[in-house]
Amino acid sequence: MRFENKVAVVTGGGQGIGEGYAKALAAEGAKIVIAELAEAQGERVAKEIQAEGGSACFVRTDVSSEESTLAMGQAAIAEYGGVDYLINNAAIYGNMEIHGMLGVPWDYYKKFMSVNMDGCVLATRAVHASMAERGGGAIVMQSSAAAWMGAGYYGIAKLAMHAITHSLARELGPKNIRVNAIAPGPTDTEATRKIVPDFIKDQILSSMPLARMGEVEDMVNACLFLLSDDAGWITAQILAVDGGQIMRA
Ligand SMILES: NC(=O)c1ccc[n+]([C@@H]2O[C@H](COP(=O)([O-])OP(=O)(O)OC[C@H]3O[C@@H](n4cnc5c(N)ncnc54)[C@H](O)[C@@H]3O)[C@@H](O)[C@H]2O)c1
Repeated sequence: MRFENKVAVVTGGGQGIGEGYAKALAAEGAKIVIAELAEAQGERVAKEIQAEGGSACFVRTDVSSEESTLAMGQAAIAEYGGVDYLINNAAIYGNMEIHGMLGVPWDYYKKFMSVNMDGCVLATRAVHASMAERGGGAIVMQSSAAAWMGAGYYGIAKLAMHAITHSLARELGPKNIRVNAIAPGPTDTEATRKIVPDFIKDQILSSMPLARMGEVEDMVNACLFLLSDDAGWITAQILAVDGGQIMRA
C-alpha cells in the first residue's frame, strides 16, 4: 500500500496501459482520477475500481485543451482535496493515422502534436500547484521506444516528451516534485493489436534480447516504482522498459 490516501491522476486511463496504471495504483490505496476523453471507457474503469473497493472518479478530459485540463484539475481537487501524482499517459495511438512527415495533412499533424506532445504540459500545469501545496509529488510521462527510432510525428512527440521531462524536472524539483518518463517497447494492448500487423511484430521481437511482447504489468511495475518513495532521489530520467529493444550507451 505505497500510495495509501494519495491522489493520482491518470490521463488516458480508460483502457490499455493507462487502465493498468489506474487499477494498480488503486490496489495500493490511491484515489484515482481517470482523465480520459472516451466517456464509456473512463466510466467503466472508475466503476470497476469502485467495485473492487477502491476510490475512483472519471473526469472527461481532452488533454489538448487548456480549458478542459484546468477543469480536470479543479474537479480532482473538489473530489479528493488535491493531487499527489500525475501519469501523462494519454495519446493518439490506437486510432493513429499513419502518414509520412512530408505528406501528413497539416491539420492532423497539429492536432496530433497538441495531444501527444502538448497534452502532458497542459495536464501538468493543471495539477502542479496542488502537488506543491501538499508537500510534493511525482509525475511519470509515457514516452515510447519509438522516440529513438526516427518514427515520424509519433516518435517526435515522444522525443519531445523527454525534453519536457527534463525541463519540468528542473522547474518542479524545488517544489519536491519529481518528473520521470517511461519508454515502453512493443506492449500487448488492444491498440497495438489493432495497428501493428503480426509480421511486423514478429520482425521487431526477433531483434530483441528478451524476445516477447511487453505486458501492461511490465509498465505498471516500472511506473509505480518511479512514482513511489523508492525512487525518491530519481528525477529527469527516461527509463526504457522494452526487453532491450533500444540499446544506448
Ligand atoms: N502499447 C504499446 O505498444 C505502446 C508502446 C510505447 C508507448 N505506448 C504509449 O502508451 C500509452 C498508452 O498506450 P495504449 O496501448 O494503452 O494505447 P490506447 O490507444 O489504448 O490508450 C490511449 C488512451 O488515451 C486516450 N486519449 C486519446 N486522446 C486523448 C485526449 N485528447 N485526452 C485524453 N485522453 C485521450 C484514449 O481514449 C485511450 O484511452 C500511449 O501514450 C502510447 O503512445 C504504447
